[in-house]
Amino acid sequence: MRALVTGAATGIGRATARRLAQDGYEIGVHYRSHRAEAEALVEEIRGTGGTAFAVRADLTSRAEVLRLARTVLDRWETLDVLVHNAGSYPRAMAPELDPDAFEAPFRLHVFAPAELTRRLRPALERANPGRVVFVSSILAFTGSRHGAHYASAKSAQLGLARSLATELAPRIRVNLVAPGAIDTAIIADQTPEERKRREATVPLGRVGRPEEVADAIAFLVSDRSSYLTGTTIHVNGGVRMD
Ligand SMILES: NC(=O)c1ccc[n+]([C@@H]2O[C@H](COP(=O)([O-])OP(=O)(O)OC[C@H]3O[C@@H](n4cnc5c(N)ncnc54)[C@H](OP(=O)(O)O)[C@@H]3O)[C@@H](O)[C@H]2O)c1
Repeated sequence: MRALVTGAATGIGRATARRLAQDGYEIGVHYRSHRAEAEALVEEIRGTGGTAFAVRADLTSRAEVLRLARTVLDRWETLDVLVHNAGSYPRAMAPELDPDAFEAPFRLHVFAPAELTRRLRPALERANPGRVVFVSSILAFTGSRHGAHYASAKSAQLGLARSLATELAPRIRVNLVAPGAIDTAIIADQTPEERKRREATVPLGRVGRPEEVADAIAFLVSDRSSYLTGTTIHVNGGVRMD
């Protein structure tokens, strides 16, 4: 079994790549700037008897998305799992946002996964069913206080994922995980006070761990979720209940 995880050098992507490698998948470790971390992860997986390779691409560039797809197809005729995890959350208040500021988030969270899924579709269909998981966000459902461009792109991504779930069935299942606050670089700019305040709003009393999101993804790509498509698992400690 083979899985490509985007943004796999750090955070939720790394935890997911590790988890899927433990579950027996060969892993395509996609990264952009964290080359050393990506190579270390590949070595770690190989060290435990697994198979992995690293591949670089800036997913805001269509040419690089196409190159990534070609690299995967050159190696693998069949792709069992595609995890659209790569993302970034630049903070800015809506009144400061020039319309151009929406372009990069839409390229990263919508255009890239749309194009990557389109190019990898034949390989995913060979897995029958192929499984695609989008790493969404609680902010796709609530909006953001300081990232209208990010929240809009994540909401558009939800529409994309649900449309793909409808159109690509039954040969490909498409689902989402929507994390709340998870302990990765994306929330590392918080002061200890901000973190405490945030944790006080979480019924489970803490931010989540990347491994807890990876567990939900591992479930969504397994046969244990064989009748799920187009659905979202919310991994947020009870902050927002659906
Ligand atoms: N942590 C949270 O609280 C939280 C909450 C809700 C949703 N999420 C979502 O979870 C996903 C993973 O984020 P994370 O929390 O694990 O943060 P992270 O550690 O910063 O991981 C994000 C990954 O995305 C990659 N990436 C960013 N921009 C890219 C680009 N232009 N092209 C290619 N790759 C790019 C980064 O690659 P390089 O570092 O190698 O450049 C990085 O490995 C994201 O989609 C994020 O929106 C996170």
